Amino acid sequence: MGSLLLLVLYYALLNSWAAAIFTSNQTTANTTFPINSVTANSATVKSNPATNKILIWVMTSPKNHQKALHVKNTWGNRTDKLLFFSTEIDENLPTVKLPVQEGYAFLWNKTREAFKFVYEKYLQDYDWFMKSDDDTFVNVENLRYMLSNYSPSKPTYFGCKYKLPGSGQVFMSGGGGYILSQEALRLFVEEGYNNKEKCSQNPRGFEDVEMGRCLENVGVKAGDSRDEFGRERFSAFPPEGEFDPAYFRKDFWAMNYSYYPRIYGQSHLSDNAISFHYVTPANMYALDYLMYRFKTIKSTDEKIP
Ligand SMILES: *[C@@H]1O[C@H](CO)[C@@H](O)[C@H](O)[C@H]1NC(C)=O
Ligand SMILES: *[C@@H]1O[C@H](CO)[C@@H](O)[C@H](O)[C@H]1NC(C)=O
Ligand SMILES: *[C@@H]1O[C@H](CO)[C@@H](O)[C@H](O)[C@H]1NC(C)=O
Ligand SMILES: *[C@@H]1O[C@H](CO)[C@@H](O)[C@H](O)[C@H]1NC(C)=O
Ligand SMILES: *[C@@H]1O[C@H](CO)[C@@H](O)[C@H](O)[C@H]1NC(C)=O
Repeated sequence: MGSLLLLVLYYALLNSWAAAIFTSNQTTANTTFPINSVTANSATVKSNPATNKILIWVMTSPKNHQKALHVKNTWGNRTDKLLFFSTEIDENLPTVKLPVQEGYAFLWNKTREAFKFVYEKYLQDYDWFMKSDDDTFVNVENLRYMLSNYSPSKPTYFGCKYKLPGSGQVFMSGGGGYILSQEALRLFVEEGYNNKEKCSQNPRGFEDVEMGRCLENVGVKAGDSRDEFGRERFSAFPPEGEFDPAYFRKDFWAMNYSYYPRIYGQSHLSDNAISFHYVTPANMYALDYLMYRFKTIKSTDEKIP
């Protein structure tokens, strides 16, 4: 309840509260950004978002089936097709049972098999194919809106773009979710899945980094999913973390992973944000409420119901 209240509070008081925090620390604030000068409808939609058919699959595991249910109860229903991949059958979600070993160490194998399953069963039926975690929140409408500027027949994928310190490997954070065009999925399975030169055949490995390497090797471009003001649409963190300087400290590992320089302050996230990660079950409902039901009554409104 404490965190839910906090969430509601900072949305309601975003302008004064966040501004106060960030201006009190000029070392991390970006005061050059045009704060509050951008409205949600400022982007141009080049094609009809409604024509994008999106399949989203959720990575889950037997101990998290209950948690995954909150995805189904909130944003999961706004996509065209929702699948849950696990290693056990659960009729409530329902799940697709993959013949792989469970566990964090084997997430790469599970991811490969999930995308292969989706390719075999659904490649022609959908335009875009997204991987999400069971604690990721996705705003499906904003996802459609962004994708309307891109063709599913071009080899590309989008997400929270990272660059691995050291190797420089570009990849999309697994927790923030990433989405492959139809052509990207085709290349992944037809040219990568069985090719050990291009894609790791070892079941172990960091799912998102391996995916980034594999997609790059089969000619899939890592897209730029920021909005026209350079603000991020996919986040690998929860909203309360994104606005907390204590979360994004200088020694936080993620500081060295951002592909694009991180902009600080309340305007670093797009007004059309797509995803958040590490979202607790309660906050799934809080975000759903704030994004889809909550309305601010403006003083110009003639009648207050
Ligand atoms: C300001 O930033 C410094 C360095 O990142 C940090 O140690 C300090 O806690 C911050 N102060 C506030 C008020 O957030
Ligand atoms: C959304 O809910 C309806 C009604 O229960 C169901 O028929 C539909 O398949 C759901 N959509 C998704 C993507 O799960
Ligand atoms: C990896 O996936 C393959 C294909 O489904 C499966 O045969 C194999 O047992 C899996 N390995 C592990 C360690 O999960
Ligand atoms: C980020 O990289 C710099 C330069 O290599 C290093 O000094 C710093 O400790 C790194 N920060 C974190 C949080 O890993
Ligand atoms: C601050 O924001 C402006 C406008 O987007 C950008 O050009 C600049 O690089 C940002 N600076 C930092 C330090 O993030």
